[in-house]
Amino acid sequence: MTHEDQAYIGPEAIVAKRKQYGYPCTANFYKNPPQIVGGKMHKLYDQEGKSYVDFFTGVSVVACGHCNEAITGRTIEQLQKLQHTSTIYLTQPMVDLAERLANGILPGNLKRTFFVNSGSEANEGALLVARMHTKRRSFLALEYGLHGRTFLTMNVTGIPMWRTDDFLDKEVTTFIPRPYDASMDVESAARRSLDALADVLAEKGDTFAAMIVEPIQGNGGMIVPPDWYFSEMKAMLEKHGILLIADEIQTGYGRTGRMFGIEHFGIVPDILTMAKALGNGIPIGAFSTTDEIAASLNRPSASTFGGNPVSSATALAVLDYIEQEGLVERSQHIGGKLIEGLKELQAKHSAIVDVRGKGFMAGAEVRGADDQQSAEWTDIILENMKDRGFIIGKNGVGRNVLAFQPAMVTPWEDIEAMLKALDEVLGSLTHRK
Ligand SMILES: Cc1ncc(COP(=O)(O)O)c(C=O)c1O
Repeated sequence: MTHEDQAYIGPEAIVAKRKQYGYPCTANFYKNPPQIVGGKMHKLYDQEGKSYVDFFTGVSVVACGHCNEAITGRTIEQLQKLQHTSTIYLTQPMVDLAERLANGILPGNLKRTFFVNSGSEANEGALLVARMHTKRRSFLALEYGLHGRTFLTMNVTGIPMWRTDDFLDKEVTTFIPRPYDASMDVESAARRSLDALADVLAEKGDTFAAMIVEPIQGNGGMIVPPDWYFSEMKAMLEKHGILLIADEIQTGYGRTGRMFGIEHFGIVPDILTMAKALGNGIPIGAFSTTDEIAASLNRPSASTFGGNPVSSATALAVLDYIEQEGLVERSQHIGGKLIEGLKELQAKHSAIVDVRGKGFMAGAEVRGADDQQSAEWTDIILENMKDRGFIIGKNGVGRNVLAFQPAMVTPWEDIEAMLKALDEVLGSLTHRK
């Protein structure tokens, strides 16, 4: 059955059903949201056949393009052969994937991988293995980071709006200021961040199992630390036997112009977590570490769906596609041009106060007369861009950063067309008197 055959109910009915049968915590973008019924490579299609160039890719997931036949063909082949057994039985795609990651994909001596189903679960596993390895309970994290929705990952999440649980364990995480503050330059903010870390380590460095960081904060508003930041951090942590977990759930698999975001900073983390783009839309997550650290996860643990043949076969197809098409290099080159284009718009429009990012992970901060107007303008831009055929994302602590995380296969002409449309939309914003 194709989507044309499905009984079409339309956006209003979907919103009504979500209200009636879902939980109030979930939200959707747009005053007038389209019903998305199809996707092909860098484009999405709505119920009326209108096409949209997708610059958010389901939040940094569909990096190789929607319904990419080179990938879905192998997913379908596996689906028809063997779908699920659990890891209690022997299947090949999972071990092939783990081997492939160890030999040439993961940095340094990260050689062992445990497969799960989502980013939250990957981080939860990483935190667990860090605790088991160090025999310590507490964690360090950066302010305004996002690491997940499970209890422990929510505890290390620093964005207030994603700390949903009123009963989080206030003792378990110590937050360090992130390497960004609108009132100072990036170098000073990064220095302040590491100074604060030094103070905490001096006081109670031997209580922490790990520090978890996103190499570039995504949900926090595309925060890129200076080149030296993570190597200094790693050296400081090592002195106290604290592991560094790189959360590559958003930055992983070429998005930033390197296979992993942390590679921009010249260090290898102790544990690396991944999800999103590894499956290009099929749920998969994983945490990888060294032989030595992995040896500590030695009590029984298993994920029913983790490493199932379908997600593993899909991930292998994703890795083949990224390599064959040179998508990491493309992200660096074409993504770099996207960022330049956004900087040109910043020079022209006062509503854009900062442009940040690397490769195809770019953000443009919107500022109006006050925080409220900044968020309102961001929504107006998103709505107008959608009407012109461009799906843009948003993030940032004040929900005022336009997020550009397109499929890495997006042709330059479509990026140019988006920049032109954005230029017009920014020019139409009316300033409050
Ligand atoms: C950096 C980062 N870590 C973890 C997560 C949680 O992943 P998931 O929603 O797959 O549980 C996200 C989700 O957006 C993320 O961006």
